[in-house]
Amino acid sequence: MLVSIVYDSGYGHTARVAEATAQGVREVEATEARLIAVSDGPVDWEALEKSDAIVFGSPTYNGMISARLKQFFEESTKTAWTELKWRNKIAAGFTNSGAQHGDKLNSLVSMALFAAQHGMIWVGLDLMPGNNSSTSSPDDLNRLGSWLGVMTHANVDQAPDVAPPDSDLRTAQYLGRRVAQIVRQFQPAQSALSNQGA
Ligand SMILES: Cc1cc2nc3c(=O)[nH]c(=O)nc-3n(C[C@H](O)[C@H](O)[C@H](O)COP(=O)(O)O)c2cc1C
Repeated sequence: MLVSIVYDSGYGHTARVAEATAQGVREVEATEARLIAVSDGPVDWEALEKSDAIVFGSPTYNGMISARLKQFFEESTKTAWTELKWRNKIAAGFTNSGAQHGDKLNSLVSMALFAAQHGMIWVGLDLMPGNNSSTSSPDDLNRLGSWLGVMTHANVDQAPDVAPPDSDLRTAQYLGRRVAQIVRQFQPAQSALSNQGA
């Protein structure tokens, strides 16, 4: 099973989240994680076609996904969407920003909408919100309380080796594991769908 993580990161913070997601994927037996940074040059479209799941990741810039991830989205229209090559693949997403809120939801909505246009199956986060009571803490998983995907926050004066914090990276790791487990759960059904020429 192959889970590809397609992401952008201008300053390295979202890259940390992508790596944590990959780590979670690899915790599930017989599952390979492939990191694809859109800034690294030509995208390996064949690898994406072979993937069982694609996780999208972006910093939130100007309240939306980065221009480079959007460029990748646009290019996929010709390379994948016209033949619905990603139909029935599992999809999920994460976004990182400098403000705790930072309008990150708009980035996740864009990713989920994009996945729906490709006929993909979007997987959210099945975690209770963390850090939302007098007895909880910023060390909790899902400390920013998101369901559509993973939201992480990196203080703007901290380098990627310390931001986003460990709790956010563990939340991304959790999402990676969840995506890989859901791929396993869906696999017989996905094979049947392909055999029917769906
Ligand atoms: C052009 C630009 C726009 C940004 N817009 C937002 C924003 O809308 N909301 C926010 O919270 N942070 C915003 N930030 C801060 C980044 O989200 C933050 O620095 C993030 O950690 C960058 O991730 P990266 O290191 O992966 O590029 C912006 C940064 C840049 C450079």
